[in-house]
Amino acid sequence: MKVYIKTYGCQMNERDSDAMASLLRAEGHEIVGTEEEADALIFNTCSVREAAERKAKGKIGYMKKLKARKPGLVIGVAGCMAQRLGDKLLEELPHLDFVLGTGQLHTLPEQLRKAKEKHLRFAETEPSPDVLTGMSGHYAATWHGEIAITRGCNRFCSYCIVPYVRGREISRTREDVLAEAKMLVDSGVKELLLLGQNVAAYGLGGDIRPPADDCSPFAELLEELDKLPGLLRIRYTSPYVSYFNKRLIRTLATAEKVCHNIHLPLQSGSDRILAAMNRQYTRDSYLAKAAELRDAIPDLTFSTDVIVGFPGETEEDFRLTREVMNEMDYSQSFIFKYSPRPGAKSAQMPDTVPEEVKEERNQILLADLAVRVEKRLAAMKGRTEEVLVEGVSPRNPRRWTGRTGTNIMIHFEPDEKCRPGTLRKVEVIQSNPVSLFGKLVD
Ligand code: SAH
Ligand code: SF4
Ligand code: F3S
Repeated sequence: MKVYIKTYGCQMNERDSDAMASLLRAEGHEIVGTEEEADALIFNTCSVREAAERKAKGKIGYMKKLKARKPGLVIGVAGCMAQRLGDKLLEELPHLDFVLGTGQLHTLPEQLRKAKEKHLRFAETEPSPDVLTGMSGHYAATWHGEIAITRGCNRFCSYCIVPYVRGREISRTREDVLAEAKMLVDSGVKELLLLGQNVAAYGLGGDIRPPADDCSPFAELLEELDKLPGLLRIRYTSPYVSYFNKRLIRTLATAEKVCHNIHLPLQSGSDRILAAMNRQYTRDSYLAKAAELRDAIPDLTFSTDVIVGFPGETEEDFRLTREVMNEMDYSQSFIFKYSPRPGAKSAQMPDTVPEEVKEERNQILLADLAVRVEKRLAAMKGRTEEVLVEGVSPRNPRRWTGRTGTNIMIHFEPDEKCRPGTLRKVEVIQSNPVSLFGKLVD
C-alpha cells in the first residue's frame, strides 16, 4: 500500500512516526508525501493542548471527502489523542477505520492489514510492553538521528495529559540504546538526539524521586555514547531540573560530544503556581541548579517551556515568571497558554484566567524574549564558532545553515567542501534580530 503519515505534537511523536514508517517499509509498503496518492492515511496525534486535538480532528474530518472519492482508502488515527479518546473517535468520525493507542504503535502493519482486508473498524488501546523494543527502526535518519530512550512519564504535573496518554515511564536497556546508536552512526548519523518526557530519569526504574548525588544512569549512558567513533554530537530533551546531580553535571562538563545546551522547562517562576502544578522545585532551587550548571559549563545555554494563565495565576505570579525568565536569559523559549485537559488534575481547578489575559501575558513574554535574543545574537558578532553543517537554508537557497553546540543557528555562504553533518568554523560577521550570518574560516 501507499501510506501517508501526518504527525502532530512533540519530537517523540515525530520519532514514533519515523519508526512506524520503517515498520511499514519492512512489510513492503511505500511511504508517500501527499494524501491524494495514498491508499492509507495515518494521523499520529497529540493531546497536550485542546488546540492540538482540534487541529487533528479538523483535518481528519476533512478527509471524509477524499474517502468518498476513494472508497478503499483506509484511515487510522494513532498516538496520544487516539489513546485518550479510543472508541469515541470511531463514533465521532464515521469514516475512520481504526484507532491505535500509544502502546500499540508497533502493531501498525498488522492493523492496516486488518482494516484493509477484513474491513474491520476497531480501537486498539491496550498498552503492550513490546512497544519498547518494537519501535527501534529508522526510516529517514540522515546526519541527524533520534532515539527514544524512555517512554511514558510518571511525573503527573497537574496540567499535563502525557502520563495518561503515554502511560508509565519505562526505560530502554542500555544495550538496546547503544545498539540502536551504533546502527545509526554506522549508517552516517553524526548528531544523536536522545528523547524522553523526563529524559534524565533514564534508568531509574520510574521512581520520580531524584537519586543520590553519585547516581545517574543517564550520565553513564551519555559516557558510553560519547565513546562512539564517528559520532560528533549528542543532544537530549527534555530533562527535569531535579535530576542534574553532581554525577550528571560532571559528565555534562567533561563529555566531549554532549552539547552545551539544556532545555530546562520552567513552567512558572512563582512557587505558589509551581506547587499547584506539582512541579517538584521552587524558583530558588531552579535558579541555584542553573547557576551550578553554568559554573561547571561556562558557555552553556538554556531554553525553556513556560505556561501562562494556569488556574489562579495572578499578576504577581506572572511578574515572577517574567523575572525568572529575564534572569535565566534563555536562548529560546516556548510559551504556552494554559489549556485544561480533561482527566488531568488541574482540569478540576477553575480556569480563572480569561483568554485575553493569557494572550496578553503570552505577548509580553514573547516581546521580552525577542529583545533578549536580539542582544544575545548581537553579542556574538566577531566570534568564531564551530557549527555542525545542516544543509541549504530553507529561506535562502544560496546560503547554508549550521548550528553551534549551544544550539544557535548561523547562516553562511558555502564553499565546495560543505557537506551536511560536518563540523566547520564560522566567524560571525552580522546579526539581525532573529539570526546570525557568518563566513567560513577553516
Ligand atoms: N515532558 C516535557 C514536556 C512535554 S509537553 C517536560 O516535562 O519537559 C511540552 C510542554 O507543553 C510542557 O513543558 C508544557 O509547558 C506544555 N504543556 C503541557 N500541558 C499543557 C497544558 N495543559 N496547557 C498548556 N501547556 C501545556
Ligand atoms: Fe507532562 Fe510533567 Fe511528564 Fe513533562 S514531566 S510530560 S510536563 S507530566
Ligand atoms: Fe507529545 Fe503531544 Fe503526546 S506533546 S507525548 S504528542 S500529547
